[in-house]
Amino acid sequence: MKLLVTGGAGFIGSNFIHYWLAKYPDDTIVNLDLLTYAGHLESLSDLKNNPHYTFVKGNITDPQIVDRLVSSVDLIVHFAAESHVDRSILDPLIFIKTNVLGTQILLEAARKHGTRFHHIGTDEVFGALPLNSDLKFNENTPYDPQSPYSASKAGSDHLVRAYFHTFGLPVTITNCSNNFGPFQDPEKFISRMITNLLTNQKVKVYGDGLYVRDWLFVEDHCRAIDDVVHRGQIGETYLVGGLTEDINNLQIAQKVLKHLGKDESEIEYVTDRPGHDRRYAVDWTKINRELGWEPTKDFDACLKATVDWYLSHEDWWKPLKSQSEAIYK
Ligand code: NAD
Ligand code: TYD
Repeated sequence: MKLLVTGGAGFIGSNFIHYWLAKYPDDTIVNLDLLTYAGHLESLSDLKNNPHYTFVKGNITDPQIVDRLVSSVDLIVHFAAESHVDRSILDPLIFIKTNVLGTQILLEAARKHGTRFHHIGTDEVFGALPLNSDLKFNENTPYDPQSPYSASKAGSDHLVRAYFHTFGLPVTITNCSNNFGPFQDPEKFISRMITNLLTNQKVKVYGDGLYVRDWLFVEDHCRAIDDVVHRGQIGETYLVGGLTEDINNLQIAQKVLKHLGKDESEIEYVTDRPGHDRRYAVDWTKINRELGWEPTKDFDACLKATVDWYLSHEDWWKPLKSQSEAIYK
């Protein structure tokens, strides 16, 4: 099989390319990535001489390049996006261009060539859940995005569904919860916290720190995409989540501090994010029932493995650190 992966130089995309080529070494992957601030070719340097992997620098909003690449593949796995909520508060327009317009341009090329399309969505499109409740998002939860990021991702999901219903394009969608693991840009909560502590800066906890995310180890996410791409029902959406039962940001910070032998004096409470979603929780019964997927990894072990990865890959994250902190100045 020949795949076009968009955004493969980003966090999840680069993990996905590694996962896929290790499991399906006879497949070939073309990685279309604009190399924005979030794209890092160093994450894929081990594949430089792999004849099954090609990198193309380009914008998913460019119809010519997209059409040319889509014409030669069997499957598109679409990760490329502006992905950071804090940046979407500072500059929403680029989120609409990349996430909405870019997805439409890819869909149009897929329609022209009849190409199978898998879209990477987020659980943030469903809005926020209250703390201390058993409520979870599922495939029937109404969309209620709260940030420019989640609104733009909701727009892209709706377009993918519309291309299925209107044009019969063979699509699937996964909406997953917050990922963590190796190669995550140091701008996101867990990667920022670890790299702050490794550069003698404090952990920045927004507001009261009692915000809950449904943490998913990135490898488990890659396996879920694999399952849906191979065995998912065309036209269907699958939610993908982790194993943690309502662990809040402060509790995660405490775990990371412990792994690094530091104490809570390293926590600094900072001004809250405007419109901050209180809690996300994902019910992944459907993908489990239909495809047998479940998150296999133990959260604490994965968090430790992630801390260890940052400890041993300073050459990867150190050059990115000042630029990712600059948006908060
Ligand atoms: P990321 O920000 O780390 O990577 C995004 C990649 O897309 C980068 O390599 C960037 O250069 C590329 N890109 C951006 N604009 C582009 C454009 N116009 N044309 C081509 N390439 C472009 O993002 P991520 O965390 O790896 O997320 C990947 C996907 O997963 C996104 O669609 C995101 O919405 C979704 N998602 C992420 C999470 C998470 O926790 N990280 C959770 C749920 C869903
Ligand atoms: P983030 O990693 O930005 O993901 P998202 O906003 O898409 O869920 O943030 C995860 C949680 O951590 C969220 O509640 C915001 C919070 N947060 C902090 O407390 N401090 C930080 O430095 C960052 C980046 C996030």
